[in-house]
Amino acid sequence: MSSDPARKFTLDDLRAARVSGTKVPMLTCYDYTTARLMQEAGVPALLVGDSAANVILGHPTTVPISLDFMIDIAAAVRRGAPKCLLIADMPFGSYQASTTQGVKNAIRMMQLSGCDCVKIEVASGQIRLVRRLADAAIAVIAHLGLKPQSIGLIGEYKVQGRTAPDAKQIVQLATRVVRAGAAGILLEAVPPSVAAAVVEAVSVPVIGCGAGPACHGYVFVTHDALGLTPRRPKFVPNLGDLATPMAEAFRHYVQLVNSGKYPAAEHNYGEKPIEK
Ligand code: KIV
Repeated sequence: MSSDPARKFTLDDLRAARVSGTKVPMLTCYDYTTARLMQEAGVPALLVGDSAANVILGHPTTVPISLDFMIDIAAAVRRGAPKCLLIADMPFGSYQASTTQGVKNAIRMMQLSGCDCVKIEVASGQIRLVRRLADAAIAVIAHLGLKPQSIGLIGEYKVQGRTAPDAKQIVQLATRVVRAGAAGILLEAVPPSVAAAVVEAVSVPVIGCGAGPACHGYVFVTHDALGLTPRRPKFVPNLGDLATPMAEAFRHYVQLVNSGKYPAAEHNYGEKPIEK
């Protein structure tokens, strides 16, 4: 959070963190209650990722999630964490058809959710969109490296930029999106040396998701870090195991009902005497 916890953490604070070298912890968030807890815990920046398609809706890829759903959950996170910097993902299909479609939908996301920035997965075809969004005063975070919305094209989720030409392409694309007006970069699943080269090449904050220590902030899917998904990716820290206590609590409830201990007298509403 900013040095004053009552103050909102802004894009300017993220830029200042790049200059000062203070690393920014960011988490994905998809609902009001968790957002409230994250803000209380001092997490300065939240990403409403389209990974909601996986961890909230149970889809194997991020492709099926809709813009309306993303807007609804981003608005819920905004209500829970008004002081956090809020980045909302533009989902697959909401900006690929045309620049006009992308601008219209990003404006819709901004107006209806109250997010501070939108994030789009960028290929060279989207440079024009980045420029138009920046012209429309929309802070855009360009997602480079592994781009899960491209699963149809890439075939599998894998580390990007491992060869010199691939790494060079990522660095060049980063330079181009920043020149087009991107306010920040999110770099997913690249070796640390590639992230360091991107950090060196651009002037905006770079958030890493499995991109090593050179980035100015770090993010990952919160459910992975809390043990709520079947597998924790290598780059995600172990922040605890919430699955075991949750499963135990659910089992306990089943036992309470099966044994007739719930509902007990203390759970019942009293009756009001009939007024005469
Ligand atoms: O959708 C998402 O959660 C993301 C992060 C994992 C970078 O884009």
